[in-house]
Amino acid sequence: MKKRRIKKGPIIILTSIVVGFIIIFIGIALYKHYNSLEYKLTQIGYSEEEILKIKNLDQKSIDYALKNKYDRYLITLTSQKYFIWKNYDNYKRYMTKEYKGTKIDYNDVITRVNTKTVYDAYTHTSETNMDLGFGILVNKYYSLPDKYAPDDIEQMNSAYAYPNNSIRKDVYEAFKEMSKAAKSDGHTIIVNSSYRSYDEQKEIYDDYRDKNGEEYADKYAARPNYSEHQTGLALDIFSPGYGMKTFENSEAFKWLQDNSYKYGFILRYPKDKEGITGYSYEAWHYRFLGKELAKKVYESGLTFDEYYAYYLDK
Ligand code: DAL
Ligand code: ZN
Repeated sequence: MKKRRIKKGPIIILTSIVVGFIIIFIGIALYKHYNSLEYKLTQIGYSEEEILKIKNLDQKSIDYALKNKYDRYLITLTSQKYFIWKNYDNYKRYMTKEYKGTKIDYNDVITRVNTKTVYDAYTHTSETNMDLGFGILVNKYYSLPDKYAPDDIEQMNSAYAYPNNSIRKDVYEAFKEMSKAAKSDGHTIIVNSSYRSYDEQKEIYDDYRDKNGEEYADKYAARPNYSEHQTGLALDIFSPGYGMKTFENSEAFKWLQDNSYKYGFILRYPKDKEGITGYSYEAWHYRFLGKELAKKVYESGLTFDEYYAYYLDK
C-alpha cells in the first residue's frame, strides 16, 4: 500500500496565516487599548467613575482633560450651566481663595467670576462695548466712555412723565406703547427719572456720598459714567401715589413684572440679586434692551449682568 505523504507546505502556509492574523488582532487590540480615552485618562489619574463622566462632557472638556494634569474640578466646573472657558483659571483661583476647605458653592463661583463681582466695585473697570447698541452693559465694572451723552434724546410729554424728563427716541416710543397697554389693562405708569447727564449723575451721587458716606452712596446711586441713566436707556417708573418704598406693592408693578419685557424693558435691579447687580433692590428702575433681547433676558431668569457675561461677551 502506498503511504500517503502529508504535504507540509500548505500546513505551514495555513499556520503562518493563522498566526499572522492572531498577531495582527493582538496588535490592533493593544494599539486600541493604549490609545483609548479610558487608558489615557487612567494614566493621568482619573478614576473609573470620573472617566465615565468625562466621556459625557463636550469635546473641548475631553481635550482639556487629555492635555493637562489631573484636575479635580474639571468635571464639576465644566458641567455648570453658565461655565465659560475663558474664566476657567479664575474659577479655580476664586475657589482656592474663597472656599478654603469649605463646601464649594459652584453656582456662586460661576456667577461671581462671570460677573466680575469677585472684585470690589470700581476696582476692575473697563470701558463697555458700545457696539452692542441697546445691549450695552453699564455697571460697577463697565463704564461708559468718559462724559458720554446720547445724541437722540427727546423731551417726554406730561402724559408719560413728570416735568423735565427726557430719554432716547426709541426708548420713548417703546415706553409710550407700554404705557398705553398698561392703561388699557387699568394701570397708570409714569416716569419719574430718565436720562441724566454726567453732571446730573455726579450731583446725585455726590449728594448721597456727602450725606451718608461712600458705602451707602454706592448701594443706591451709580457714579458718573457708570449709570444706566447716563445711557439714556433707563427709566424710573412709578404709579401715581406710590413711592420708592411702596411701588413694589402696586398693581402697576405686578403688571410691569409680567409685561415690561414685551415692550423691551427689564427690571434691572431685582430683589435678592444685590450681590450681583451691586445695587439695592429697585422695583422702579427699568432698562431698555429692545424687544428681542429683553424677551431673552426675561426668559433666562438671569440678571442682565449674568446674561451679558454668558451670552453677549463670550
Ligand atoms: N440708581 C441707579 C443705580 C443709578 O444711579 O443709576
Ligand atoms: Zn433708576
